Amino acid sequence: MGEFKRNILVTGGAGFIGSHVVRLFVTKYPDYRIINFDALTYAGNLENLKDVENCPNYVFVKGDICDHALVSGIFSEYQVDGVIHLAAESHVDRSIEDPFTFARTNVMGTLALLHAARSTWAGKQSCRFYHVSTDEVYGALEMDGTFFTEDTRYDPHSPYSASKASSDHFVRAFHDTYGLPTVISNCSNNYGPYQFPEKLIPLFINNIRLGKPLPVYGKGENVRDWLYVEDHARAIDLIFHEGKDGETYNIGGFNEWRNIDLIKVMIEAADRLLGNPPGHSLGLITYVKDRAGHDLRYAIDSRKLHEELGWEPSLQFEEGIEKTIRWYLDNQEWMDRVTGGEYADYYDKMYKNR
Ligand code: NAD
Ligand code: DAU
Repeated sequence: MGEFKRNILVTGGAGFIGSHVVRLFVTKYPDYRIINFDALTYAGNLENLKDVENCPNYVFVKGDICDHALVSGIFSEYQVDGVIHLAAESHVDRSIEDPFTFARTNVMGTLALLHAARSTWAGKQSCRFYHVSTDEVYGALEMDGTFFTEDTRYDPHSPYSASKASSDHFVRAFHDTYGLPTVISNCSNNYGPYQFPEKLIPLFINNIRLGKPLPVYGKGENVRDWLYVEDHARAIDLIFHEGKDGETYNIGGFNEWRNIDLIKVMIEAADRLLGNPPGHSLGLITYVKDRAGHDLRYAIDSRKLHEELGWEPSLQFEEGIEKTIRWYLDNQEWMDRVTGGEYADYYDKMYKNR
């Protein structure tokens, strides 16, 4: 057991961002053991990690972060000295349908992990609990050029963002009350390979491929700040190693897009890559009923991370979105498998009455 320099528990490692974090850590740090702990909900998919599953420093444990006994057992069995906590219910639309599941996983699950870390790490040096959070905890911005900074007051609007805000508060409470060595980051919208097609970008790429309607909420005027997922994973690596205890770091791409403009960019690129004539899929755009409580605009000021730790995004958006669309079109079997099973019921429930 003493053969690894560090033993890092990554929760939610079979999900979208988690799989990129696991891949980065397993390949970059062969002297760390990476324990991927994931319940494999609808969003978790071990296929996302096929390329690293046989690495000697990678372990997968299936389980629920709310299971206190299992969580404590993992901390002792693997001598966990670092946590990168990504496991969560992550889709806003689902949180509107079923807020309780979000409170359970995102709040109670985070609390179970904090409790296990506190109990196991008492008196130990060089441990770290890294909580991965979202810019949605800050609420919504007007179209006025302002940004969320680390000091922006929390003002969540959806059950998802309320549950993430609550988990952030618990992480800070464990730092302030018990001295747990914690760090938090709040990131903007991620895009890239392996994202479950309930989120805007993979859902729309798949629908363009299948010639299905593209359901644009409201007038398509909401604005999001998009960051390539591998740049988020690099920021997590940097903050995990060099961030200061008790601090918060915002992560974002200074890359704001109105939904409708982003959708047109996706249509142009997807049509080109599919060999369709220009403008072929524009007619699929369908304006539907808006999301309840739909946040107008997110924009992250990530200057602290840049100035203190030297991070900056590596990819320009035009390059990242083209790479992403190409990946989904080249990996149609992945898409077909994740949209098999219960996906059709989900789609029906979310979009039938819009
Ligand atoms: P995701 O939904 O793709 O993956 C979540 C993972 O957590 C899945 O593998 C799932 O099986 C696992 N999980 C869910 N409930 C669990 C439980 N009770 N026990 C153990 N595992 C469980 O999510 P994502 O988009 O990769 O987001 C990861 C984290 O990053 C989340 O905490 C999210 O709030 C945060 N975040 C996401 C974004 C984004 O744009 N996707 C941006 C900022 C922050
Ligand atoms: O900002 C970070 C957050 O980004 C993360 O914390 C969340 O986990 C992640 O899901 C994401 O939240 P959003 O709600 O911004 O992402 P989503 O992909 O669901 O939607 C992006 C925008 O597109 C939003 O304005 C709603 C709109 N939309 C979405 C879907 C799924 C549509 O117009 N039609 C759709 O079908």
